[in-house]
Amino acid sequence: MERIHITDVAPRDGLQNQQVQVSTAAKLELIRLLAAAGVQSVEATSFVSPKAVPQMADAGELVAQLNEALPELRSSVLVPNLKGLERAHAAGAREIAVVLSATETMNRKNINMGLHEATEVSARTLAEARRLGMRTRAYVAVAFDCPFEGETPLAEVVRLASRMREEGAGEIVIADTIGSASPGQVKERLGALREVVPVGQLAVHFHDTRGMGVANAWAALEAGVRRFDASVGGIGGCPFAPGAAGNVATEDLVLMAERSGFSTGISIDGLLDAVSFAEAQLQRALGGRAITWLRRQREKRRMAPVARTA
Ligand code: COA
Ligand code: ZN
Repeated sequence: MERIHITDVAPRDGLQNQQVQVSTAAKLELIRLLAAAGVQSVEATSFVSPKAVPQMADAGELVAQLNEALPELRSSVLVPNLKGLERAHAAGAREIAVVLSATETMNRKNINMGLHEATEVSARTLAEARRLGMRTRAYVAVAFDCPFEGETPLAEVVRLASRMREEGAGEIVIADTIGSASPGQVKERLGALREVVPVGQLAVHFHDTRGMGVANAWAALEAGVRRFDASVGGIGGCPFAPGAAGNVATEDLVLMAERSGFSTGISIDGLLDAVSFAEAQLQRALGGRAITWLRRQREKRRMAPVARTA
C-alpha cells in the first residue's frame, strides 16, 4: 500500500481560534494522544504576537516540554517573521513554517505586511532557519480564494510557490484557508503547481467550510500529492479570515485514504480518543463528517464477543 503523510495541525490551526484558553498541559496531552494514535507529525504551536493570538502565548514553554516528552515526534511551529524564528529557535524548535498569503489584503490582515514585504520577510526567515539547521515549510495561504479579494489569481499562487521553493522551503503547503475550493479547482491548481514545485515537496491544507475537504483531498491524491495537513476533530479556523471553518478532520482523511488503498499509519480509534479529549477541553461537540459513524463502529467492536480459537 502506498503511504501518505499527514501533519495534524490541531494544536496550532485548531486551537488558535478557540474562545476557551487551553492550558499548556492540555495542549501537550492532545499532542501525546495524537502521537499515540500514530500521527507522525504535528504543527505544535505558533510564535506570533501574543496580542494577535493570546492562545499561543505559551509557545516557548510548549516546545520545550514537547521536546522533552516526545523527542521522536516531528513537530513544526508557525513563525510570521524573524522575531518568531528567534523565539522558536531559542525554545528548541527544529522545524518552522512561514505563512505567506497570496493576496495583498490577507497579508495585511494576518501579519500586518503587504504582499511584497511578506514575501521578502518569508524568504529571509527561511534562509535564517536553514542556516540554523532547521527544517522548513512555507504556506501559500488563500491559494484558492481570499475572503477580502475574491478568487486568487492562479499565476500569483504559482509565482509565490515557486519563489518559496527557490528560497529553499523543504515543503510548500498550498492552503485553502477559507475552505472554498472544489475538487476541479484543486486538480487545475495542483497541475499548474507541479510544473514549478516537485510534487513530493507539495503539501495541501484544506478547510472543510463547504463540506468539500475530503473530496479536495482526493483530488490532490489523484494529482500526485502525498502530504496533507488535517486537524483532529476538524477543529480550527483562522481568526483573521472571516467565515473559515475548521480544517478537514484527520479522522475523515484517514478513513478516506485507508478505504481507497493508501496507508497512513494512523489508528482511527486513537484519533477518537483525541477528539473526546479535545471536546472535554473546549466544552463542545467536535468531530468531522464521519464522527457519528466512526463512534458507532467502535462501540460495536467493543460490544462484540472476543473470538475464541478452537
Ligand atoms: N512573536 C512575539 N512578538 C512579536 C513577534 C513574534 N513573532 N513579532 C513581533 N512581535 C512584537 C514586537 O516585539 C512588538 O512588541 P512591543 O509592542 O512589545 O514592542 C509588537 O509585537 C509589534 O511589533 P511589529 O513588528 O510592529 O508587529 P505588528 O504589530 O506589525 O504585528 C505580527 C505583526 C506578525 C507580529 C502579528 O501580526 C502577528 O503575530 N500575526 C500572527 C497572525 C496569526 O497567527 N495568524 C494565524 C496563523 S496564519
Ligand atoms: Zn488553516
